[in-house]
Amino acid sequence: MKFFIDTANLAQIKEANDLGILDGVTTNPSLMAKEGIKGNEAILNHYKTICDLVDGDISAEVLSVTYDEIIEEGKILAAIHPNIVVKVPMIKDGIKAIKWFTDNGIKTNCTLVFSAGQAILAAKAGATYLSPFIGRIDDTNWDGIELIAQIANIYGTQGFDTQILAASIRTPLHIVRCAEAGADVCTCPLDSILGLLKHPLTDIGLAKFIEDAKKM
Ligand code: E4P
Repeated sequence: MKFFIDTANLAQIKEANDLGILDGVTTNPSLMAKEGIKGNEAILNHYKTICDLVDGDISAEVLSVTYDEIIEEGKILAAIHPNIVVKVPMIKDGIKAIKWFTDNGIKTNCTLVFSAGQAILAAKAGATYLSPFIGRIDDTNWDGIELIAQIANIYGTQGFDTQILAASIRTPLHIVRCAEAGADVCTCPLDSILGLLKHPLTDIGLAKFIEDAKKM
């Protein structure tokens, strides 16, 4: 399973990248706004900076919602760097645009996915990645992980190439359960990635080894 970091914060991207286990980055308009990135030039420059930091797929989300505008915006984003993946919302014009991008060799990430039916449509359009939002599904009293397992089953049965990119990850346990359920990629906040390190018995064991090492 690939690890992406889900942020537009450059310090956090650097910290995750320094671990040596980072395969890519996802952003969205909310994450970009949180970093105070405003205006077209600043947005494009920020994506370029992220591409220079991380050698992996970088999702840049379109702000448009009509076919022609999504295509135009996606072309501009894709021209920033070969690693840019154009992130397109799961809407009718988005599916049409994903098909166009697929036919024209531009990688896509179909976002805001909450059902297996949507996952089938995105795969038919040739999306490179599909982003089911696990945490937001959990928030509505459904089990987001069950959706990952259902899509993994469908894609395996049907032979679809689209990679399942589990998004809206909130905890380290989400990451473990996405790996079990068959996600190809997990995009995570830095805290959830670092949370995978934690176990009290590791801390207790290490403290004892350090203490005993002094007696050696
Ligand atoms: C990333 O691709 C998604 O936009 C992101 O994971 C959504 O996360 P959230 O539900 O925590 O906003």
